[in-house]
Amino acid sequence: MSLKIGVIGFGNIAKAIVTPILENNLLKPEEIGCIVNSTKSVENIRNNYKYKIHIYEATSPENKVVWDCPIKILAVKPQQLKNIKEICKDESSKNILVSVLAGVSLNKLAKFFPRHKCIRVVTNIPITIGKGLTGISFDDDINDNNRLFIKNLFEKSSKVFEFPEDYLDIFLALTSSAPAIIALIIEALSDGGLSGGLSKKLSEELVLEMILGSILMLKEKNLSPADLKNMVTSPAGTTIAALRILERKGLRSALIESIMGAMNKSKEFG
Ligand SMILES: NC(=O)c1ccc[n+]([C@@H]2O[C@H](COP(=O)([O-])OP(=O)(O)OC[C@H]3O[C@@H](n4cnc5c(N)ncnc54)[C@H](OP(=O)(O)O)[C@@H]3O)[C@@H](O)[C@H]2O)c1
Repeated sequence: MSLKIGVIGFGNIAKAIVTPILENNLLKPEEIGCIVNSTKSVENIRNNYKYKIHIYEATSPENKVVWDCPIKILAVKPQQLKNIKEICKDESSKNILVSVLAGVSLNKLAKFFPRHKCIRVVTNIPITIGKGLTGISFDDDINDNNRLFIKNLFEKSSKVFEFPEDYLDIFLALTSSAPAIIALIIEALSDGGLSGGLSKKLSEELVLEMILGSILMLKEKNLSPADLKNMVTSPAGTTIAALRILERKGLRSALIESIMGAMNKSKEFG
């Protein structure tokens, strides 16, 4: 069996990364082998994942074929890292490990996987629909061919940015954690609509369309956020009444601090 990519942990984010690779015919399903923790997940992926990839349980001796792949994607939770045992015989020059674990540094990866050259990737959930953002930091001695190959894997479904590792924690906060912040804002604004007497469904639809329209307007007219804010804020009007309340409640500062909180948590995992 000749696998091209091994995936250790095949949950939400691994599926979001691998599916566009298969959809875009970069690799064939039989060239991908994955390891998961439980029998239940093996069965679930065999029965429900639309591509027939190879899938093994972590305790199965067969999972060695995944570790024998030259390139592996590591996509377990940071808390599960301690359970992953590297089982490669080859020298590190032949093995590449791409980690998507939040906050886990290249230094720490090198200690867990001494027979691999490591790459740290931060991506976000919109990668699922081809609208992701991906930040990558490479070990210094990864060659240009491998750099290009890995970038190409992510470019089918996201905009890719190469960074020195120090920037990955803030990149993660702003791109990977922030979809939850946006979801919370959408939910809260919709509750505002509900409070004013609209149905929940209609409120959510209006909020989504308003946000989409606002973003397109910023992009298409090349406006700054301040330009857009000033356009809709007239003297003694409704919008300044809303903004005054948000300033009084500290929303701006809360949002800034939320990004710093996510960044600091990511650094703690390091
Ligand atoms: N979700 C996001 O938006 C996002 C974005 C960027 C980065 N990340 C990062 O991606 C990583 C995975 O997140 P996720 O949301 O995809 O998690 P998830 O859905 O819980 O997936 C974790 C996967 O790891 C498997 N696993 C656990 N222990 C294992 C072991 N010992 N050997 C092999 N496989 C094992 C699990 O198998 P079982 O199902 O059998 O337990 C599961 O397939 C995290 O480190 C996170 O920081 C997530």
